[in-house]
Amino acid sequence: MVQPPAGLPMAARAEDLIGSIIDSSTSLLNEQSHDIVSFAMGSPAPESVPTDVLADIQATTLGAGAAEAFNYSATEGDPPLREALLKTLAGTSDETTGDRLTITSGGMQGLDLAFKLFVDPGDLVVVESPTYTNGSATAMAYGANLLEVPVDDGGMVVEQLPDLVERAGRTPKVIYTIPTFQNPSGATMSLSRRHELLELARHWGALLIDDDPYGLLRFEGQNVPTLRELGGGDPLVLSVRTFSKIIAPGLRVGWVDADPALQQPLIHAKQTMDTCANMPAQRLVTGFLEQGHLQPHLRTQCEEYRRRKVAMQQALDEHLGDIARWTDPEGGFFLWVTLDSEATGGLHTQELFETALAEGVAFIPGPALSPAGHFDNALRLCFASTSPERSKEGVLRLRRAIDSLIARGGRHA
Ligand SMILES: Cc1ncc(COP(=O)(O)O)c(C=O)c1O
Repeated sequence: MVQPPAGLPMAARAEDLIGSIIDSSTSLLNEQSHDIVSFAMGSPAPESVPTDVLADIQATTLGAGAAEAFNYSATEGDPPLREALLKTLAGTSDETTGDRLTITSGGMQGLDLAFKLFVDPGDLVVVESPTYTNGSATAMAYGANLLEVPVDDGGMVVEQLPDLVERAGRTPKVIYTIPTFQNPSGATMSLSRRHELLELARHWGALLIDDDPYGLLRFEGQNVPTLRELGGGDPLVLSVRTFSKIIAPGLRVGWVDADPALQQPLIHAKQTMDTCANMPAQRLVTGFLEQGHLQPHLRTQCEEYRRRKVAMQQALDEHLGDIARWTDPEGGFFLWVTLDSEATGGLHTQELFETALAEGVAFIPGPALSPAGHFDNALRLCFASTSPERSKEGVLRLRRAIDSLIARGGRHA
């Protein structure tokens, strides 16, 4: 990486901006000229982006004379989108009211706003381990000290939290969780743990960031109420949502649901970032919701993602069954694969990445999903963006890369 020239008067906080290996994989993959099956980014399947519907909405709402759709909008969100979203959420676990709703530029901005308003340098922030490191990196950008809490099949192991906090010697200011179809493990936090986590947040007076971009993408099992619903309007629960996974990530439209008293601080914080979310994109989402496309779209997406998950698991069974195990999520985008250290000679997935890329397959190595760089022997695979046929090919390439790295004694070329 090129360092900024010495003598540039950079702010100390620039040091705390560690970047995202996940996001950087997009440009890395763009630079490759050979065929790559990418399991790296958490993107919806290209086929499930509703381009035809969006094109129709664009033609009717963003065409000639629609200057208003290209103007600034209110910082809290374009009124028609706010109205359509409130109607869409009515009767769901995320039902809310206008005074709690702020439209954001994707889920990432929701996280940035939350950490910006609640984290001072040196504050303790609880994160899951593994976690979505774009979220933990955002906390670090505001000077947070992170406390990693293990995740198992039932989500964050909340039972361990009191002991870990006691050992840290101070209570957390913020708890950051991805409770449903967690990124990267795919795990869903059980109802009892959700209650327990809420109780702990109240006990410590900690903000609970409920980051749930995948909850509507359940293709198996029973719904679990969101922390938003279980919190019953508790000001300590701040919920971050996004249209990225359920419509398209390039829209960069999401929302935050927070106590009404937080709306003004959220607006002020957002005004120092971007004034408002992208207006044409807000209008596209509005049309999509108003015309009733979301529910049928979610149904077909869920069906397809279940098919893709099963196909990837079958391919893993066939090609990696003797050297790895993996999770079995009931929704969302990801499988978390753990290599058997003995069978693979302690192979590190970060080392594997380059060999795998040369072999034509990409994934996110485990250490990129833990602020402390744990999970050397694990990797995240996104099953959602790849067809079953390509997925099989990708897993086969992954096995070839593993075998070739083992044959070379665990070092890449
Ligand atoms: C857990 C989690 N939170 C937030 C985001 C960010 O969402 P957006 O792309 O809308 O900024 C993602 C995207 O991968 C995610 O997985």
